[in-house]
Amino acid sequence: MGSLGHTSKISAFQETPLLLSDGIFDVTRRYNADTNPNKANLGQGSYRHDNGETWILPSVRMAKEAIADCDHEYLAVAGLKSLRDEVEKLVLGNTAAFKEGRVASVQSLSGSGALMLAGLTLKTSNTNIKTIYITDPTWPPHDLIFRSQGFEVRTLPYYKDHSFDFEAYMDVLKQAESTSAVVLHACAHNPTGCDPTRDQWRQIASVIRERGIFPIFDAAYLGFNTGSVDEDAWAIRYFIDDLGLEAGLCLSFAKSMGLYGERVGLVAFVTQTPDTARAVFTVLEVAQRGTVSTPPAYGAHIANAILGTRTIAEQWERDLITMSSRIRGMKQKLYDELVRLQTPGDWSHIVKATGMFAYLGLTLAQVEYLEAKHHIYMAKTSRISVAGLNDSNIGYFARVLDQTVRETSGIVPAN
Ligand code: LMR
Repeated sequence: MGSLGHTSKISAFQETPLLLSDGIFDVTRRYNADTNPNKANLGQGSYRHDNGETWILPSVRMAKEAIADCDHEYLAVAGLKSLRDEVEKLVLGNTAAFKEGRVASVQSLSGSGALMLAGLTLKTSNTNIKTIYITDPTWPPHDLIFRSQGFEVRTLPYYKDHSFDFEAYMDVLKQAESTSAVVLHACAHNPTGCDPTRDQWRQIASVIRERGIFPIFDAAYLGFNTGSVDEDAWAIRYFIDDLGLEAGLCLSFAKSMGLYGERVGLVAFVTQTPDTARAVFTVLEVAQRGTVSTPPAYGAHIANAILGTRTIAEQWERDLITMSSRIRGMKQKLYDELVRLQTPGDWSHIVKATGMFAYLGLTLAQVEYLEAKHHIYMAKTSRISVAGLNDSNIGYFARVLDQTVRETSGIVPAN
């Protein structure tokens, strides 16, 4: 009846709240709208090469050539089988769980899709898990995803004085009940860039085992962190193979293959028996069908060609080293420049941070000032994506950071 209709029906959205848009993608939106030539986007975690541009990995170019004739058919609900096999082999190949067929996996919509399927599977597998522990701070979707699935989400304190606050973290973890799961950043903790040492990982694992907490690894940076998948997967293998624990793994190839928009990932559960893995696999498949139906094919074919073709896999290993070393180099240059400028405060946490992010330790006022006055964009927590820095903008960034710290007197990063 359109405009003629006289209806007293109240809108279904009468009570709909206005929510804040995503903090990280909002930074990119504001950056894109800025026309200043000095602008730098240190917000969203996307790798940029030394020319400031998105980098299509040489291995990805090779893979795209290799799959040039691939069709556009639906994948199976569980995704591309050969990719799942390759990824399981890459991360868990030498573990008893893999050799004994105790791994259930399905392809996912990158890391966030993996977390979503992991949560749904824990919900619908008749587990008794009711609470999910995440770190404070963490990557914002952790809270969004698990809360939306009806879990109680609790936080573990993670960061103090520019470091991992191991003691506070352990104090809370030790109180967690066996009806809990904990999200562990396998490496390159997002946003702080502070990872547990191996000894701390052993202590964390020991509490998790003693208390019967279920570990879920968010592994979005394997290989991208240090340049070596083996090195970055150490904690995962320690839990699964050395301790024989069950675990969830949420993997993404967004960063490590530069396949951000293709949404290639995998969720895997390591179980105690092959029969359990078979059952969990059926639950994962149903969770997939009930949410995204079947996962996207193109990125899966690319990742599969990389992992499954020796020459391309070797190129990928070199690409990982290129990206991770460039990021490490930029952290060092930024630090050296701040030291040279004698910027007030101790900035050594920048070089100590792992992965693509570093927490600068600025106040919100300083972050806003950098954006408004100097066209530097970063998350409001002062997390910077170091990949946004390059030889052309690092001098400018260090200079305006130095100015900002000096002009906003008395506010310098604490030790
Ligand atoms: C980030 O943390 O910036 C990236 O992982 C992008 C995202 O999805 O938030």
